[in-house]
Amino acid sequence: MPSKVDMDKIVSLCKRRGFVFPSSEIYGGLASCWDYGPVGVELKRNVKEAWWKAVVHERDDVVGLDTSIMMHPGVWAASGHIDNFTDPLVECKSCHLRWRADAIEGKKCPKCGGELTEPRMFNLMFKTSMGPVEEEANTIYLRPETAQGIFVNFENVVTTSRKKLPLGIAQIGKSFRNEITPGNFIFRTREFEHMEVEYFVRPGTDEKWLDYWVKERFDWYVKLGIKKENLRLRRHGKDELAHYARDCYDIEYLFPMGWSELEGIANRGDFDLTQHAKCSGKELSYHDAEAGEKYVPYVIEPSAGVDRSVLAFLVDAYDEEEVEKEKRTVLHLHPSLAPIKVAVLPLSRNEKLTPLAKEVFKQLCPSFVTDYDDSQSIGRRYRRQDEIGTPFCVTIDFESLEDKQVTIRDRDSLAQIRVPVEGLEKVIAAKLKGEAFDASTLWSTREK
Ligand code: GAP
Repeated sequence: MPSKVDMDKIVSLCKRRGFVFPSSEIYGGLASCWDYGPVGVELKRNVKEAWWKAVVHERDDVVGLDTSIMMHPGVWAASGHIDNFTDPLVECKSCHLRWRADAIEGKKCPKCGGELTEPRMFNLMFKTSMGPVEEEANTIYLRPETAQGIFVNFENVVTTSRKKLPLGIAQIGKSFRNEITPGNFIFRTREFEHMEVEYFVRPGTDEKWLDYWVKERFDWYVKLGIKKENLRLRRHGKDELAHYARDCYDIEYLFPMGWSELEGIANRGDFDLTQHAKCSGKELSYHDAEAGEKYVPYVIEPSAGVDRSVLAFLVDAYDEEEVEKEKRTVLHLHPSLAPIKVAVLPLSRNEKLTPLAKEVFKQLCPSFVTDYDDSQSIGRRYRRQDEIGTPFCVTIDFESLEDKQVTIRDRDSLAQIRVPVEGLEKVIAAKLKGEAFDASTLWSTREK
């Protein structure tokens, strides 16, 4: 079942308004690589900040980490990525294009009809070499997940944070996968950002903690405005579990191409710490003073994609409605995710309005990401702010010069209230936190 939103509309809005551009566009682009524009980068930062706040700052059992993308190649041998992080591929004997074996029906090349080879395993890690000499001995990999940087620092973090188990270590950072079939805009790309927690627990409590994190992560999306009916949980069958996983749930979202994975929450057991202990020769167990035991912790891993979350938030917020016989495209983004919180819009470029408008901008911009726009008609400027999801527009008109009041327009209800310039920052802050928009003072004569 596809969602009600067309992916082409999302891609077009993203390009038109500066959320996402094709990478290296002036050179014709690079397949499935994307750049985040001025409002896209704000949205992405807000998604990461909301995640970090929820999983690190608002908890006392999770700490953060930022590890390097390039790691000792032994890490990937130990983690199983060199042997197991593979997709079966077939190659066309005529045009030499490669296809994922499980995505091909029949025995002919979908492009030219040529004969296909038997499936061969293809590793998804990007290889590069470190140092000035390109030799096999210098081969390193770009990390395909941030998780391994956490596992190899387990001992460092436990010792320095002086925290007890259960303990989570969170990381946000770039990952790279040479995906065979990238696509669907920013849904599956070869370079993307991960938001991962490795939550270390006492063996035997792992199932309880898996359930806990599945609920916690599901609720996070709902709290940030994703409609519940567009989310669902799917437990992995035994035959589809990753090589490290004992159990796994996907949070799926109804993307324009249908239900697809948004985030995975896996029970990795003691696979990674045991492997790293074996391959590095360092002991990676935990001394549980309370239980009087020493054990290798089990790990629950909520693993989300920043880019995929951005796409889900955009799709879910997208709406087209008719206002005064005109089509309005609007992003009903949660205020904490909206790239711009408030736009300051003088009614026109008339020089009499500019000083007060600038004064309002100065008052607001230290507290909120604020846009100042005095070009084009007020109607067109409202449309632009609606399309990038700005919760509030503040309009300065000629009456404002007399009564030192401005109009605040609410993106979702289109209601307008008139408030004094003095103290405006406090009013906007309260509205962004969800205070009701009292439209009893609605100025019905204002253009919506
Ligand atoms: N450490 C476990 C892990 O990486 P995964 O299911 O392969 O698990 C977790 O990835 C999440 O990362 C996915 O649910 C998705 O949101 C994101 N992700 C994975 N591959 C991606 C890709 N090629 N492009 C964009 N996001 C991706």
